[in-house]
Amino acid sequence: FKKLKDGLLSSAPSTEEMKEAASFDVNKDKSTVSITVVGASGDLAKKKIFPALFALYYEGCLPEHFTIFGYARSKMTDAELRNMVSKTLTCRIDKRENCGEKMDEFLKRCFYHSGQYGSRENFAELDKKLKEHEGGRVSNRLFYLSIPPNIFIDAVKCASSSASSGIGWTRVIVEKPFGRDSGSSAALTKALKQYLDEDQIFRIDHYLGKELVENLSVLRFSNLIFEPLWSRQYIRNVQLIFSEDFGTEGRGGYFDNYGIIRDIMQNHLLQILALFAMETPVSLDAEDIRNEKVKVLRSMRPLQLEDVVVGQYKSHTKGGVTYPAYTDDNTVPKGSLTPTFAAAALFIDNARWDGVPFLMKAGKALHNKSAEIRVQFRHVPGNLYNRNFGTDLDRATNELVIRVQPDEAIYLKINNKVPGLGMRLDRSNLNLHYAARYSKEIPDAYERLLLDAIEGERRLFIRSDELDAAWALFTPVLKELEGKKIIPEYYPYGSRGPVGAHYLAARYKVRWG
Ligand code: NDP
Ligand code: BG6
Repeated sequence: FKKLKDGLLSSAPSTEEMKEAASFDVNKDKSTVSITVVGASGDLAKKKIFPALFALYYEGCLPEHFTIFGYARSKMTDAELRNMVSKTLTCRIDKRENCGEKMDEFLKRCFYHSGQYGSRENFAELDKKLKEHEGGRVSNRLFYLSIPPNIFIDAVKCASSSASSGIGWTRVIVEKPFGRDSGSSAALTKALKQYLDEDQIFRIDHYLGKELVENLSVLRFSNLIFEPLWSRQYIRNVQLIFSEDFGTEGRGGYFDNYGIIRDIMQNHLLQILALFAMETPVSLDAEDIRNEKVKVLRSMRPLQLEDVVVGQYKSHTKGGVTYPAYTDDNTVPKGSLTPTFAAAALFIDNARWDGVPFLMKAGKALHNKSAEIRVQFRHVPGNLYNRNFGTDLDRATNELVIRVQPDEAIYLKINNKVPGLGMRLDRSNLNLHYAARYSKEIPDAYERLLLDAIEGERRLFIRSDELDAAWALFTPVLKELEGKKIIPEYYPYGSRGPVGAHYLAARYKVRWG
């Protein structure tokens, strides 16, 4: 509506946009949002989706009229769903306040319908129940597909038959994985588009909903001191690091078919890279931002095999406790070569980033849990104080660290004189530590993303051309790794990962932060 009003639509509005425009304002009080969590009996629904919906409800962000339906094959009554959901709801927003009353109110808005994912008949029954709850208001429907990828299409086909009729909107949130490579991803997109317009598909990458990832553009584009430095002229390398201190416990079956490159690098880390490296968008409009992301992804060189190191964790005993190897998981085939760790060097062949290595590292069962972006700046030319650092000049360079999680922070490593009569320098941090600076709890990524989907804000969702560009970078190397049956470097559970990652970085004169 806003786009229509401001004359910002460059092309004719889509059906979805027309519906949005028509239902805006006039029907605000007469409309309702029905949210169906497809796969409601699953892990993600319990762990993330229902708690995020409750947080939104608690914060007053859900519309006045809304209903939440769980849908899955498991047999459950409404009361059983509420009981299941209530176990994972928390009063995390304001721990001092007893939010029990709000939880009860919220749970009363949750219902359940059991059905098959590929049954139009079962979805028609759901549709009937949704209509009863919608009570003749303009119905807007959001389907969250929290199910394994092999049943996406069946579910979309049937869910689209229970789409909102009339002037309300219908949107479908799809969870990753979006295919395994360029071919399967394109086939998935094609199949989805048989039933939905691109505008209706909300491909989620929950890293885009993380506070510090959202903040990347603010940091860059609203501070004079950063943007001028954001190029090959001043930046030596950029590191995108993801590590988890636990293995694939419980998700081995899924993971073995994908591996860490598809699970983390091709989506979460690459999305961060795109936001980090893109040119200034024309505006904050979703299409303008996504256009810039696509441009930077398409300027990247497909990843080469010699620029990748893969690893897999092996069993390790520490303090009398034995931690399992990846292949000890019963759901993982014996002898699996699937990487649980990878390091990679990527390059953007454009004027801004020519020659700057973007190093990615992602691994499970490592020594810590963290996700961060590290930006290492070049040496100060003719630095008067070089002698303070002896031969190790790398130590003297500035480094900007954006710690996405845990304990969110942004800090800049600078050189500083140690107070006293002598002239000794040390490295200190200019530190924006979120817990110290902001008293309010940081919302979970799923809260932001669900709210955006309800509001029709597409900025943080992946467009199909972005997805194509992302797969184009990784597909050749994935095929080569698998075709040549490259043996991963084994690293002990709880360690810092394979030493090969250090050799890879050293080849580009980089030291991991
Ligand atoms: P689950 O494996 O728990 O599956 C969700 C539900 O789907 C199950 O409760 C089950 O419900 C149904 N289901 C499972 N397997 C099958 C099958 N083979 N055929 C038909 N139905 C099946 O998945 P998650 O909840 O863990 O994840 C959902 C989606 O989100 C997946 O695409 C996953 O890759 C993605 N994801 C998950 C994350 C997580 O942390 N869990 C993180 C990021 C993405 P029922 O039997 O009752 O029908
Ligand atoms: C998911 C991956 O997308 O992200 C998981 O499939 C991983 O393997 C998870 O554990 C990490 O998310 P977060 O938000 O806990 O860092």
